[in-house]
Amino acid sequence: MVSIIVLRIFVFKPTIPSMSTKDQITEILLATGRSGMEQVVAFMESSGYFVKPGGGHHKEEGGLAQHCLEVYRIMKSTSLSLPADGIVVSAFFHDLGKVNRRFGRGGHAKRSLLMLDHLGFQLTEDERFAIGHHHDNRNLSAFRSPLRRSLSFADSMSTLQWKLRHSRRKS
Ligand SMILES: [Fe+2]
Repeated sequence: MVSIIVLRIFVFKPTIPSMSTKDQITEILLATGRSGMEQVVAFMESSGYFVKPGGGHHKEEGGLAQHCLEVYRIMKSTSLSLPADGIVVSAFFHDLGKVNRRFGRGGHAKRSLLMLDHLGFQLTEDERFAIGHHHDNRNLSAFRSPLRRSLSFADSMSTLQWKLRHSRRKS
């Protein structure tokens, strides 16, 4: 019952954005002013981040970027005390590893970190922890980071929303 209420709170009706998903994400990322962000944005463009599906959810074209934008919006509206940069970086980069599943070893969370390292993008310790452990629900120590908790919650909510929308369309 609680989960249904939570789902209803966060299910937002799709609106027709005045900017494309790609333009919105690019603008948000560049607005951080973080060093090396232009290189990451260029990599996102060339690797297909903005057109690829999200994997087991958000399976449509462009689903990966749409999922990350949803994660960003949920984190932003539920984690007011977290650093704005941390929200932007963890929301948009946590699934970067999904753009190329043959890059390095390990799951997509670790690949996201490897790719960012490869691009020379500097993460804070908390951002690194949040991205690297965003699916690490069996490790209790992973819950100590508020940024990681926020990212994992938003990631799960976006995934559930997609599944809910998808199941509604089927029935
Ligand atoms: Fe995700």
